[in-house]
Amino acid sequence: MDKRQFIKTLSLATLASPLYSGAFNNLFENVPPNELAKNDDFWSKIRSDYILKPDYINLESGYYNILPRPTMDRLMEHIQMVNYEGSYYMRTVQWENKRRMREKLANVVGCAPKNIIITRNTTESLNMVIKGLNWKEGDEAVFAEQDYGAMKLMFEQVSKRYGMVNKIISVPNHPKSDEEIIEIYSNTITPKTKLLMICHMINITGQILPVKKICQMAHEKGVQVMVDGAHCIGHFEFKIEDLDCDYYGSSLHKWLAVPLGTGLLYVKDEHIDNLWPIFAEEHLEPGDILRLNHTGTHPVYHDLSIENAIDYYNMIGGARKESRLRYLQKYWTSQVRNHPNIVVNTPKESFRACGIANVGIKDMEPSVLAKRLLDEYKIFTVAIDSANVQGCRITPNVFTLTSELDVFVNALKEMAS
Ligand SMILES: Cc1ncc(COP(=O)(O)O)c(C=O)c1O
Repeated sequence: MDKRQFIKTLSLATLASPLYSGAFNNLFENVPPNELAKNDDFWSKIRSDYILKPDYINLESGYYNILPRPTMDRLMEHIQMVNYEGSYYMRTVQWENKRRMREKLANVVGCAPKNIIITRNTTESLNMVIKGLNWKEGDEAVFAEQDYGAMKLMFEQVSKRYGMVNKIISVPNHPKSDEEIIEIYSNTITPKTKLLMICHMINITGQILPVKKICQMAHEKGVQVMVDGAHCIGHFEFKIEDLDCDYYGSSLHKWLAVPLGTGLLYVKDEHIDNLWPIFAEEHLEPGDILRLNHTGTHPVYHDLSIENAIDYYNMIGGARKESRLRYLQKYWTSQVRNHPNIVVNTPKESFRACGIANVGIKDMEPSVLAKRLLDEYKIFTVAIDSANVQGCRITPNVFTLTSELDVFVNALKEMAS
């Protein structure tokens, strides 16, 4: 078998091998997502696709999502194949394969392939935009104190370098309406504002912002909007094009469960030629987004795993996954929301949150809460103590069972009483 044939055979084998839960999944074909969300038999089967550490209940899937075995197995095959092929792989099908991954990804995120590139993560995607704009002294940017640190640091750096000005707002944990949030951003925009950064989902609370409405308001004032969607792709269903934002960055190793070090940047057509890329690229045709995608040599097998992660995601079904994650969040938050000593920092309305929520206990530091959860109840979470959020971020996953959340709710109630 020649080398080209070998690569072809391997990728066909990859396509042909059944997903672990695939056949079982067919039994539930006609069950509506909101019904299936409550069916622990189905989700137990999905759980069996994972190798879970028995030492604790993992309620911290926010940093990254561990891989189910079907994706992990494919990743190992890709590593072996690339290592076998060596430079031959890099010089023959590397770019063609990456193009295929972009096409598959564009289909999942709801935009044209010509508007996205594969990056390493959200940090790289959004820093490229912040750093790559033509800032002039006195230009302004608006973002929130609840936004992610790496982006805030880059805004500080460009402020020092170019004399642009950062305006920082605060998003309430329990907004009364979309209009309340829009007004906070709108009131901070001036004729000098060039860019608004907003989270699609605020990572410390899980609050989903009304992105489309904010974009509409900002565009009416001539301001571009960059969306931090680190937690959204593969978490809940939406189409980037429907949001009408100018830039969208995400990490595929979070909710799409692609191997670590894979992200995405979306750029609207009219902005592609105006950004300075992180690494300079050869001259390309105007409007070619690949001018922003010079990477140097990197772990290409991670790129190859994008389609396997998408296959796994599609096997579960986007609507089913979203329904299950929202169901799990509501399952535990609804049991503690009215407790006098427990503070849920995430909005109650279904459309303002999905799988992630944040909870604190009155008069208990978040770090103490996280430590006690781990030491006394064997529950792993992450403490958040910044802006208006004091609590632990609770992030279940498709492998989480309601019986695990029962342990968590019981722990909270015991500590709060
Ligand atoms: C809202 C938000 N933006 C950006 C990031 C950065 O993601 P990454 O480290 O994958 O670049 C995170 C990470 O948790 C995040 O929560």
